[in-house]
Amino acid sequence: MRPQEIIAKKRDGKSLSEAEIGIFIDGVCDGGWADYQITALVMAMFINGMNRREQTAITSAMLHSGTIMDLSDIDAPKADKHSTGGVGDKTSLIIAPIAAACGAAVPMVSGRGLGHTGGTLDKLESIPGYNVNLSFAKLKTVMKACGFGMIGQTKQIAPADKKLYALRDATATVPYIPLIVASIMSKKLAEGLDALVLDVKTGSGAFIQKFSESKKLAAELCATGKAFGVNTQALITDMSQPLGKYVGNAHEVYECLLILRGEGDALMQETLGLSIDLTANMLVQCKIDKTIENAKLRIENVLRSGEALERFRHNIELQGGDPMICDKPEKLLTKSLKEVPIIADSSGYLTEVDTFAVGRAVCDIGGGRVKAEDGVDHAVGYSCAKKIGDRMRKGDTLGVVYCRRQSQADLISEKLRNAYKIGKEIPKTTKLIKATV
Ligand code: URA
Repeated sequence: MRPQEIIAKKRDGKSLSEAEIGIFIDGVCDGGWADYQITALVMAMFINGMNRREQTAITSAMLHSGTIMDLSDIDAPKADKHSTGGVGDKTSLIIAPIAAACGAAVPMVSGRGLGHTGGTLDKLESIPGYNVNLSFAKLKTVMKACGFGMIGQTKQIAPADKKLYALRDATATVPYIPLIVASIMSKKLAEGLDALVLDVKTGSGAFIQKFSESKKLAAELCATGKAFGVNTQALITDMSQPLGKYVGNAHEVYECLLILRGEGDALMQETLGLSIDLTANMLVQCKIDKTIENAKLRIENVLRSGEALERFRHNIELQGGDPMICDKPEKLLTKSLKEVPIIADSSGYLTEVDTFAVGRAVCDIGGGRVKAEDGVDHAVGYSCAKKIGDRMRKGDTLGVVYCRRQSQADLISEKLRNAYKIGKEIPKTTKLIKATV
């Protein structure tokens, strides 16, 4: 069947068969379809919709465009967490060592930051020497030794997604639930998991901002996970302000290390709390614990005993990084940076944060990338000094920009100040975990 026949069928609002979707994904991978034909079909899918059967078929075709990891020789339940992406969202670096210390095996395949959101790989690469480009075989060796490994998407993992995601990003077709489900789940199912916990973000820093849409996405992700035999659960969590204290690669790793060392300050408690909740759900989903309460007790133990920190140290060593940062987290921070405070220009309560704008501001000074091929400055960042609901006085510090040059601070200071809304009324408190699906 020629590409134009399949495109015409979807253009005319008809549903595609499993075989037709298979031909499309084969064409994406072997170059048989030109980019303009791929994007024409994706746009037709976006506009005319896809049903659940088509969603499952495209997920399966994308999953099988690569290989599924065989982790059967690792004698532990395999579990992972995936976040749909946010600002200051650094929980993976805390969850993986905790879950490993609690008895799970975690093959974490992560992505890079794009646009306003950060990515786990960029955060990890702010650790001197840390190598995220491991083969499957090496990943397994690392997992056997310390319980978890953290790598980037290899050519073997859902290669169709790599090409499709880049084209969707360039043609404004990312925010469509069946395509997001196929993209995320084809990569996660390739990890050969027993259990998956999804952190579906909602609010001003999430790429799906409306709660009702986030709920729909969570339900579809879970239905797809179950259809492929993986225990899947989703937590819909608040992204109406940056998570925890820091935004920016090295600063976020610093926050994670302080938390693992039991030295997190008040602004970091949100990061710790969410990490514990997500890990507890992973432990229940992969049947290490029967109840969330038991799982939380186990997690508290491995945090208190330092076992989770030791797992991280061992992992850093095995992946080529400098384990000394576990003893001296401040080694991650670049001393010569300028610290420029963002000052409140009125008094009242902090009622709203444009989290997208905060993420973009850090990206604008080099902390993130606009295009997938851009480089990243791991050192720059931002620390949040106030949280929604905090009482403010004119002249208080809202946050601090860490940058290399004053011109960078000049570029984003006003955008950051404008990202904060200060009102006279105490805002309604929002729960960090808004729903469980
Ligand atoms: N993250 C992904 O991996 N894929 C999408 O389509 C959206 C977010």
